[in-house]
Amino acid sequence: MTITFIGHGYVGLVTAAVFADLGNTVYVIGHTKEKIENLKKGIIPIYEPGLTEIVKKNVDAGRLIPTLDYDPAIKESNIVFIAVGTPPLPSGEADLSVVYKVAEKAGEHLSGYTVFSVKSTVPIGTNEEVKKIVEKVKPQDAEVEVASVPEFLREGTAIADTLHPDRVVIGSDSQKAKDLLIELHKPLEAETVLTNLRTAELIKYASNAFLATKISFANAIAHLAEKTGADAIKALNAVGLDKRIGHRFLAPGAGYGGSCFPKDVSALISIAKDNDYDFKLLKEVEAINKQARDSIAQKAITMLDNDVNGKKIAVLGLAFKPDTDDMRFAPSIDVIKKLQEKGAKITAYDPEAQNNAKKLVSNVEFAENALDTVKGADLLIIMTEWNEFKEMDLEKVKSQMNEAQIVDSRNIFDPQEMKQQGFSYQGVGR
Ligand code: UDX
Repeated sequence: MTITFIGHGYVGLVTAAVFADLGNTVYVIGHTKEKIENLKKGIIPIYEPGLTEIVKKNVDAGRLIPTLDYDPAIKESNIVFIAVGTPPLPSGEADLSVVYKVAEKAGEHLSGYTVFSVKSTVPIGTNEEVKKIVEKVKPQDAEVEVASVPEFLREGTAIADTLHPDRVVIGSDSQKAKDLLIELHKPLEAETVLTNLRTAELIKYASNAFLATKISFANAIAHLAEKTGADAIKALNAVGLDKRIGHRFLAPGAGYGGSCFPKDVSALISIAKDNDYDFKLLKEVEAINKQARDSIAQKAITMLDNDVNGKKIAVLGLAFKPDTDDMRFAPSIDVIKKLQEKGAKITAYDPEAQNNAKKLVSNVEFAENALDTVKGADLLIIMTEWNEFKEMDLEKVKSQMNEAQIVDSRNIFDPQEMKQQGFSYQGVGR
């Protein structure tokens, strides 16, 4: 099949590369010359394990074709995927301007029968708007149908998630469009959910909002455990052993960040509001998530006896989670800013996210490695659970620090062992 992806962010580029690897001819349309030229050389704009290799392999084989031009990509394609960003507006609603703009541009180039398929996370009803836009601008003899095919890949494991998804969701009012998309996804051998446009759109938001709710629930239990002297990690582990609940996304910590959960939770609250439903549950999920970040900064402040001014605080990990360089809505940003307000001097290190972090925080000294970061520090905060921090030589860490104090926002260390090693230590929920 010949297909086109408009957009080469996490979703667009990963999915395009995987479909090219499965033998399809895949155009990837972008709008920045430099990025497209780089993609042609196999240089990718994001850090994602394995992505460079699969992009390079398929570009070299001529199956993956990065381009700035809509022609001939759209004309030749059986399916056109829109995979552009839908960032939050100040109101919390998703910004759909780019989705509509590229739909209009692509629509003008349609030829023959094409399925227009929206992968971007969009509010319920958006696909119908896309259909109207495309119908209006398409050449008279072109036939177009619309489908919603939401994406569930996670950063850091994006390729494996795309190749082995828990489910493929295909929403459309046309059986012909569904059949074409079923055919494209066949090699993935995944459970396929066939539904209408609006339900497919809702599935994506409901999935992300549920996972965010699970994380906030874990953080609320951790908060309560700290107040009552119970151990939230033991408790949540036991809770997760119930197969109806499961362990995943039940880890308390600094709260969720990233490009999806924060924006999708607030977008779903907005969607609900537009439909006269006050989604109070999700408002509380957001409030708990904010509290989780605040409580990490507060733990540091308390450990420093409220005397933060001029103190040197080391921060290990900046990305919103390991195995990514993504800093969008990363809890580390809020924690750093809060401590800087109190006069702390911050030194930080992240194996991949440092360059992106530099654009989001100021007056931070960036170190070359973990040991340099903690040199002379009065306190260390672990913000992201990169493997290299789990494996650190704690004796060396202690010997470098001014005071052996750690706030571990991701519970990567065992409190008892830390105590034995001579650290003042605070995890989350224990
Ligand atoms: C998420 C969804 O998982 C994915 O299906 C969707 O397509 C995009 O959004 P991603 O943003 O890559 O993926 O990250 P994910 O692994 O889901 O983690 C999100 C955030 O939740 C991270 O900040 C992570 O640290 C946090 N988290 C996750 C927890 O705090 N506790 C957990 O138990 C799990």
